[in-house]
Amino acid sequence: MARTHVYFCALFISTFSSVVLALEPVCPVCSKYDYEEKLLERVIRMEFTVEKIVNDNKAAVSDQINEGLDIVRRENAQLRELISEMSTNLTDYERQQSNKVEESLSSARASLDDAIQLTKGYKDVSHIRNCNVHTVNT
Ligand SMILES: *[C@@H]1O[C@H](CO)[C@@H](O)[C@H](O)[C@H]1NC(C)=O
Repeated sequence: MARTHVYFCALFISTFSSVVLALEPVCPVCSKYDYEEKLLERVIRMEFTVEKIVNDNKAAVSDQINEGLDIVRRENAQLRELISEMSTNLTDYERQQSNKVEESLSSARASLDDAIQLTKGYKDVSHIRNCNVHTVNT
């Protein structure tokens, strides 16, 4: 939008200056000072016009920068939210994994205890059997 605006203003200025340059020499009643006075007046008017264009564009550029900053701020806030959510999810995941490891360990410990008990039972039985065998042999 700003670019189109600049284009039309440039077109306006070039057309305006062409008209000024074309009209000036054919003015029959102007003295040399009148001519310079009017030229100066036109130059000053032109200066105001150019100043206005520059200021309008400053405002447009400033608006665009602010718009860009707003987008960056919003995206930054979204990223912070996402990072916080991911951090929470990671903590939850770590907790779940830790619980699973603890469950596996305690299950393995229970199995090991059972196995130890069985082995003890087996030893006891064989001891008894040995005794019996010993007793029978004696
Ligand atoms: C966090 O976990 C929830 C629930 O499992 C899920 O819906 C969400 O997509 C996760 N967020 C991220 C950023 O991974």
